[in-house]
Amino acid sequence: MPSPDATALTDATPLHSRSDVAWWRSAVIYQIYIRSFADGDGDGIGDLAGIRSRLPYLRDLGVDAVWITPFYPSPMADGGYDVADYRDIEPLFGTLADADALLAEAHDRGLRVIVDIVPNHSSDQHEWFQAALAAGPGSPERARYIFRDGKGENGELPPNDWQATFGGPAWERVPDGQWYLHLFAPEQPDFDWENPEVVAEFEDVLRFWLDRGVDGFRIDVANSLKKDQDFPDVGPEAEEVLVPHGGPTHPFWDRDEVHEVYRGWRKVADAYAGDRMFVAEAWVDSPERLARYTRPDELQTAFNFNFVRAAWEADTLRSTIDECLASSATVGAPSTWVLSNHDITRHATRYARLDTTGGGVSEGDRVGPDTPLDPALGLRRARAAALLMLALPGSAYVYQGEELGLPDVVDLPEEALADPIWERSGHTERGRDGCRVPIPWTVDGPSFGFGSGAPWLPQPPSFADLSVQAEQGVEGSTLELYRRALECRRALAVAEAATPADWLSSPEGSLSFRRTTVDGDSVVCVVALTSDPVPLPAYDEVLVGTGELATGADGAPVLPGDSAVWLRVPGNSTLNIP
Ligand code: BGC
Repeated sequence: MPSPDATALTDATPLHSRSDVAWWRSAVIYQIYIRSFADGDGDGIGDLAGIRSRLPYLRDLGVDAVWITPFYPSPMADGGYDVADYRDIEPLFGTLADADALLAEAHDRGLRVIVDIVPNHSSDQHEWFQAALAAGPGSPERARYIFRDGKGENGELPPNDWQATFGGPAWERVPDGQWYLHLFAPEQPDFDWENPEVVAEFEDVLRFWLDRGVDGFRIDVANSLKKDQDFPDVGPEAEEVLVPHGGPTHPFWDRDEVHEVYRGWRKVADAYAGDRMFVAEAWVDSPERLARYTRPDELQTAFNFNFVRAAWEADTLRSTIDECLASSATVGAPSTWVLSNHDITRHATRYARLDTTGGGVSEGDRVGPDTPLDPALGLRRARAAALLMLALPGSAYVYQGEELGLPDVVDLPEEALADPIWERSGHTERGRDGCRVPIPWTVDGPSFGFGSGAPWLPQPPSFADLSVQAEQGVEGSTLELYRRALECRRALAVAEAATPADWLSSPEGSLSFRRTTVDGDSVVCVVALTSDPVPLPAYDEVLVGTGELATGADGAPVLPGDSAVWLRVPGNSTLNIP
């Protein structure tokens, strides 16, 4: 493992410049939820100017790329995932010129930029949907969406029993009596992907952004585009929020036909120089089904959400990791790790839960004001989980604020809740706002440095101690932990192609595996998943750890419970932990 100085790079050098392997195979990609990252104009909502101002921070953190959640014109019925125009920028966030400037500045700093593409549905304010409403039944305008006649004597019943993931029926009736499908909110009508005009339109939208220089796309609900053309009822097992188990016979989740779309998209991106990539958001249970999205002529990567679902428990995590590595290897794709994002409870809070074993997330089952939590334990585990994730072969996503150890804000006042799930569930589910609270940059000031005014969601006073200012340069802080881990990881990541994880035996309740760096060094990651300390193998150096090591009964160093460490070990040492 080279010393940090040996991996120091000039500001414009992409962090993967030492590698001849495609960057997305091992990149660390930072997710920017634009509304909550940094507010450049003081309106309380994050924007492109805010992101530009924080590029030095991201470069310094050591990530390779950013993924920016939707920044398109939108009525914000679903935080921007209701897109009214795929070729422009929402005025709240800036202008196309701001986007061009952001791309140029990010590239100048050696950071790649991925944007979000939302192909399942548009906003109901999109000009195509407005035209569909105006043109009436049977028109070519209506054929871009999924309009159907209803059931019942006068068509007064929805065409089938499909439920929307945000609650209520997935069909909405329009004044002329027809119904349209929306798998999410009624303001998000589903496109008809059987219509070649829709296929051509999205390929053109991809080219619009590829021409502007984006390095890739995160594909929103990538597994939902194709629907069973018989539109059968699904029966009582209906959908739960973001739990599309799917498979080839489900009427809309993960149908085999969806892959045609991505074979087309791959051809579009491959016509461009510079290793452009896709990452699929596809909540599919089976690792084998997920791997199909990353076959050689389809998408390069797909989030492995089974890692998110796994409880903080050694055997579960190990088998989840193994399954993902094995299934992605069958198609020659890298695994893609993620712990948190803007849809799920942050892992510092998931792992703090005292009412579930190890805080594995079952989507839709969110933490509320009454959930019993041990925040200190959650943070310890979250830090250990980060070292686990960042040591694994493949690419990894860091959700804004996890590098600060942010938890969910579980007690947002009801009047502040903005997620459509809150309204659509009849105020029974609080939704996803708790993980979307604006980032604290400074220890004080309005919105803790997020902007100059009140933020769109209130931040708790505890955010002061979790701010960038409070953690920067402070030994032992979560920010410095991430920074050091990313610095060390560069040597692991560039060796990606040659080094799968190599499990070592270790005591029950712990995990231990070895990676080999490009320079031939052996690095061992040891994770303690219970409160029991774990003995360590002989090592030359602690590269990074979540805390101080303790001393065991025999005087040798041990890893304390619920923590993790990366060790540089002698190449020829016996690695198995006693
Ligand atoms: C996005 C969500 C969004 C939904 C509908 C998801 O998977 O990540 O934030 O609400 O798609 O677009």
